Amino acid sequence: MFKDRLEISANIVEKTIVSYLKEFGDIDVVQAMRYSLQGGKKLRAFFVIESAQLFDIAPDVAKWPASGIEAMHTYSLVHDDLPDMDDDDLRRGRPTVHKKWDAATAILVGDALQALAFELTLNSAVPNCNKLAYNLAKAAGAKGMVMGQALDIYAENSAAALNLDDIVNLQQGKTGALILWAVTAGAFMASEDVKPLENFAKSVGLAFQIADDLLDETGDQIKAGKKLMKDASANKATFVSLMGVDGAKKKARDLIDEACDSISIYGQRSDALKQAAEFVISRDY
Ligand code: IPE
Ligand code: IPE
Ligand code: MG
Ligand code: MG
Ligand code: MG
Repeated sequence: MFKDRLEISANIVEKTIVSYLKEFGDIDVVQAMRYSLQGGKKLRAFFVIESAQLFDIAPDVAKWPASGIEAMHTYSLVHDDLPDMDDDDLRRGRPTVHKKWDAATAILVGDALQALAFELTLNSAVPNCNKLAYNLAKAAGAKGMVMGQALDIYAENSAAALNLDDIVNLQQGKTGALILWAVTAGAFMASEDVKPLENFAKSVGLAFQIADDLLDETGDQIKAGKKLMKDASANKATFVSLMGVDGAKKKARDLIDEACDSISIYGQRSDALKQAAEFVISRDY
């Protein structure tokens, strides 16, 4: 059920991106962009498409910002894996971009994907696309994802452990900001109240990163498609490092319960989003 819906929205987005990139030619950086965008759960795209459906905005319109956020997210992963960041060789079950090509290509792929994210989101079919693009700039930038990534990297070399508020701030930036953008995109497109989706997204975003940190500690590398057991040795500041595996699991469970409560006003229409929230903490990839 949920998995079928997730696959459908992932296919819509893959098709949109493949067709959009057709006219970009074939130089290495473009080939590496196509490569980096393949695979993955495409969960942020799902959030855009499902939040749009809440307000009767069709997937054929929502596919543009849905593809845009996947381009932005993929850029963040390509740069996250670079030697001077997390230094990872494996992503989505395959060699990372800097391994298959080189670091210069990976940096350029990230730069180009960030620009592509805005190009896709600003498609003229998308209502309120200027507002979406403005929100995307803020979510991706130095008060959002980049801020979180910076704090994550700085914490590796810090002698003092971060406290809970610090870790919440870090994770709301590095992971929460793009998820918040994706989940609220439907309400912004429809000019409807964003508050219920915003509350849902804040809890889901945190739970998503906690689940990722739990996967790192307890997951199966083949299923996850990336190297695991790296956070502790890199001195990453995570909920798991602060509260242990059981404490982090409980925190994630509580966050998902809160998330689902906050969109109950939409009744059955929000079932797909609630299922996605459950998937966020039950997933093994
Ligand atoms: C991984 O994101 C990076 C984090 C923000 C934790 P995903 O788990 O969504 O990765 P893909 O897109 O499915 O590969
Ligand atoms: C990455 O977090 C978050 C972003 C790319 C913004 P992680 O470093 O924990 O993600 P993985 O574990 O490499 O996928
Ligand atoms: Mg990282
Ligand atoms: Mg990483
Ligand atoms: Mg991780």
